[in-house]
Amino acid sequence: MGSTPQKPNTPKPGAKGLYIKTYGCQMNVYDSERMRDVLAPLGYAPVETPEAADLVVLNTCHIREKATEKVFSELGRLKDMKEDSGGIMRIAVAGCVAQAEGEEIMRRQPAVDMVVGPQSYHRLPEMIARLSRKTGDALEIDFAAEEKFDALPKTRDVSGPSAFLSVQEGCDKFCTFCVVPYTRGAEYSRGVDAIVAEARELARKGVREIVLIGQNVNAWHGAAPAHDPKGGEWGLGDLIRHVARIGGVERIRYMTSHPRDMAEDLIQAHGDVEQLAPFLHLPVQAGSDRILKAMNRQHTAEDYLRIIDRVRAVRPDIALASDFIVGFPGESDKDFEDTLSLVKAAGYAQAYAFKYSPRPGTPASGMHLQVEEAVKEERLARLLSLINEQAQAFNTATIGRKLPVLFTRKGKRDGQVLGYSPYMQSVHVEHGAHLANQIAEVDIIDATMTSLTGRLVNAEVIA
Ligand code: 5AD
Ligand code: SF4
Repeated sequence: MGSTPQKPNTPKPGAKGLYIKTYGCQMNVYDSERMRDVLAPLGYAPVETPEAADLVVLNTCHIREKATEKVFSELGRLKDMKEDSGGIMRIAVAGCVAQAEGEEIMRRQPAVDMVVGPQSYHRLPEMIARLSRKTGDALEIDFAAEEKFDALPKTRDVSGPSAFLSVQEGCDKFCTFCVVPYTRGAEYSRGVDAIVAEARELARKGVREIVLIGQNVNAWHGAAPAHDPKGGEWGLGDLIRHVARIGGVERIRYMTSHPRDMAEDLIQAHGDVEQLAPFLHLPVQAGSDRILKAMNRQHTAEDYLRIIDRVRAVRPDIALASDFIVGFPGESDKDFEDTLSLVKAAGYAQAYAFKYSPRPGTPASGMHLQVEEAVKEERLARLLSLINEQAQAFNTATIGRKLPVLFTRKGKRDGQVLGYSPYMQSVHVEHGAHLANQIAEVDIIDATMTSLTGRLVNAEVIA
């Protein structure tokens, strides 16, 4: 979460500076990368600060109220920068706030030049052209995911050993707290051929880890490609098996999943696809059946725990992650205790917990018995302390093990290099500057709640 680092290059003479600030989830991180790809042919190159940019894009998140508020305060700061630039700077708002509150943004902040929703950013070049001609619409919030994927450049500019690949967008689940079905639209799965072509392009450019992403990634389905004698329909398990066969792809992950869509074949893939990381982010949100029902999650706490049992049966060392919401309308002390019990029963490697935030237009925002802020605070603190305890225990249990670490970036100290284990634990190693973008075997020698310290087993990279 938070903003994505920009590439540290300054634009070539004649090029235009582009600064994209990304809020929210993995879908937005992917979209920001693709916006850079879309804008590159127009001469836009990433710069490090908004002050140096000709075009600033805020790629926004609408999931909780706080995330939305940040956009308006950031726009206030950008307005001053735009004035300082003599009006040269252009400001675009993209992402889910753009989708949900486009008109309001244009009205509240006249410094904004363009508003573009998550399914329309392939139209940015046209919008920029219209802006210079001072004609046409500065607001594009269509829902045609299919058209977007067809229109995006087939090449990708990759900057590290791990890359997101969007395979699915939107959501038809309609959890009663969530804005996603309204901002990202209906579930849409990209076709197998387009996904595989993008995965090959990433592997060709040196990417070692592909993260298949979607709002409901395990709802992905698609017609089997012509070469599959079985034919019929593929699910995410089939897709993972196929991507695993692409040369150079050492690791595969997927996120974020819904318990209802954990198909048997996907579970089996955790047991038999070597490249599939032993990590599963499977949000449950709450542990009380009454609250799960009010959330329209369409499963019980028991259903969820049984799914985990099945995953652990084929992959006993799986690292489990989840999201939780505390203080959903009507949540009693007993309901909250049920959440704590579920956390204890499941055993997490990591988890995110949020206070319920009423979102305009969602069913839960109008429900009776909204929970007081102080109660939400207290429950959040109790849940976080349990989650942190489990994260520390999970990390401590890896001390003494040798793990293959994918090194992604330099650390703060000279020679220090950072990466992550197959279980998505962040690992730092001294004297390893030569390991950037590689996978190497590491002895884990220490652990905190959030990271591991490692020592290189030998100086050789293994992939
Ligand atoms: N309030 C609080 N948390 C929310 N999430 C989604 N909507 C809300 C909301 N209205 C959380 C869920 C989801 C994660 C991405 O954000 O836990 O899994
Ligand atoms: Fe939101 Fe529920 Fe869909 Fe996830 S499954 S995006 S929480 S509506």
